[in-house]
Amino acid sequence: MEIANAFGAVAKVYDQARGALIPDYAEVYGAAVDALKPHLADGGRVLDIGAGTGAFAAELANACPNCSYVLTDISQEMLDQSKEKFAGDDRFSFLHANVVVDPLPGPFDAVISSYVIHHMSHDEKASLFARVSDQLVPGGMFVNIDQFSIGDEAGDAALRAEWLRDVRAAGVGEASLTAAIGRMDAFDQNALAQDQLQWLRAGGFPFAEIAYERYFWAVFVARK
Ligand SMILES: C[S@@+](CC[C@H](N)C(=O)[O-])C[C@H]1O[C@@H](n2cnc3c(N)ncnc32)[C@H](O)[C@@H]1O
Repeated sequence: MEIANAFGAVAKVYDQARGALIPDYAEVYGAAVDALKPHLADGGRVLDIGAGTGAFAAELANACPNCSYVLTDISQEMLDQSKEKFAGDDRFSFLHANVVVDPLPGPFDAVISSYVIHHMSHDEKASLFARVSDQLVPGGMFVNIDQFSIGDEAGDAALRAEWLRDVRAAGVGEASLTAAIGRMDAFDQNALAQDQLQWLRAGGFPFAEIAYERYFWAVFVARK
């Protein structure tokens, strides 16, 4: 199944399991929002890459109400959930796009993304980072919540086991968990965190660092 169909098939129920599948939901999105808040204190234009049902944009819009938000996704069904969530709020607009091949809109003061870019090949990740930089104003920020590999099978398996333990403790339904693991096994191409930082720097972000890390994901904060 293609990625757009895989997410499209679960779009209507996606939000139900999201909190349980990300046991540190408040911390991880909170760290990303904290990194962006000073930068967007006076407002700004924000692009969300792979917005899905709008989780990251919703958190950021609470903290930064004076911004405008362009939400993109390859799945029309996921984007429709965002449209429903933000209906009547003219700060939000929507773009059905495959960010690997379609041109990115711009310019923006910040670009955000959460749990998306690990679905791409490593070359596509590096190329996307450079294309994101091209669409940012000077000093613009790119905050990317995303997965990483630590580079050895046993280590990655240990992190996944820790996550599974906490997800089950959070009471996720077995159907949602099975579907999430199915998507992970089909689509995930996790890169080393240090490679992701290097691709960011090479792509036009001299300041790139990890602001938060838990399980097999991190908040990558980059400034143009
Ligand atoms: C795991 S979901 C994350 C959604 C949301 N960002 C969140 O934090 O809940 C990944 C999303 O990325 C979208 N996606 C995957 N590849 C994409 C691409 N090449 N272009 C645009 N969206 C993509 C999927 O359709 C899906 O909605």
